[in-house]
Amino acid sequence: MPLLPDITAFYGGGDEAARLTSGRTIDTLELVRTQELLRGHLPPAPASILDVGGGPGAHARWLTGDGHRVVVVDPVEHHVRQAHAQGLAAFVGDARQLGHLPDTSYDAVLLLGPLYHLPDAVGRAQAWQEAARLVRVGGLVAAAALNRYLKVQDLGADDGLEVAKTGLLVRPNGPTTYYHEPAELQEEAGRAGLSETRVYGVQGPASAAVKARARHTGSGDLGQEALERALAAARFADGHPELAVTSLHLLALARRRPAACDEASSGRP
Ligand SMILES: C[S@@+](CC[C@H](N)C(=O)[O-])C[C@H]1O[C@@H](n2cnc3c(N)ncnc32)[C@H](O)[C@@H]1O
Repeated sequence: MPLLPDITAFYGGGDEAARLTSGRTIDTLELVRTQELLRGHLPPAPASILDVGGGPGAHARWLTGDGHRVVVVDPVEHHVRQAHAQGLAAFVGDARQLGHLPDTSYDAVLLLGPLYHLPDAVGRAQAWQEAARLVRVGGLVAAAALNRYLKVQDLGADDGLEVAKTGLLVRPNGPTTYYHEPAELQEEAGRAGLSETRVYGVQGPASAAVKARARHTGSGDLGQEALERALAAARFADGHPELAVTSLHLLALARRRPAACDEASSGRP
């Protein structure tokens, strides 16, 4: 099950380490909202967290700062080296195949990126199953996805209709990217044996407008007032799951159900 070599090439050019702190409003929204959603659901520090697809460690850094014990796994060697350079524990690995790690060994498992890069349903199911196996009973699995219906709300995205129809963005010289429907993300979590799943919009209902305004003004930093408004809209949408389809990213938060429930659902005594 080799990882497509084009993933490494895809991340070779940009600086994934600096993306979330670039000052662009859309990126600041992603960071602030991911922080508040995770902090609202993680157990108190020090929790043990496996950050699968953690890249250079953008989230592992602040989680470590919060007092958690974080380990990053990523298939791109360059990302793992960048994570090491920041003093993070990190190793090369694939979300679909983490068999050397023992069952139920983490309080939380993060999948903040791998599902974008697994266009095949079997690969996504393997990543979910590994996350569900590795998290302790009652622990948290947090999985991010690209929202299938955001690009079609963004008049500047030529490929919006294609992505809405197929869920796929096929690049001629790069990796194919997968876009989820909120309900599909919820179903994938359920099939992996996770429960209590809620799907949140990360950047929220202002996502398409933020991207459009950045394009028209030529500046990604739209200022504090726009950021505050976008954050208020995203927080409002947390109480309205039907608004998740207006957000650039989705975040599924799910829990590993107790073994007793597994036995009940499988009909075993
Ligand atoms: C958009 S980046 C997100 C990085 C980081 N989690 C964040 O939120 O800033 C997606 C990450 O997923 C990683 N990735 C891609 N395919 C993966 C796979 N099969 N298993 C684990 N990670 C994968 C990439 O190498 C990349 O670091």
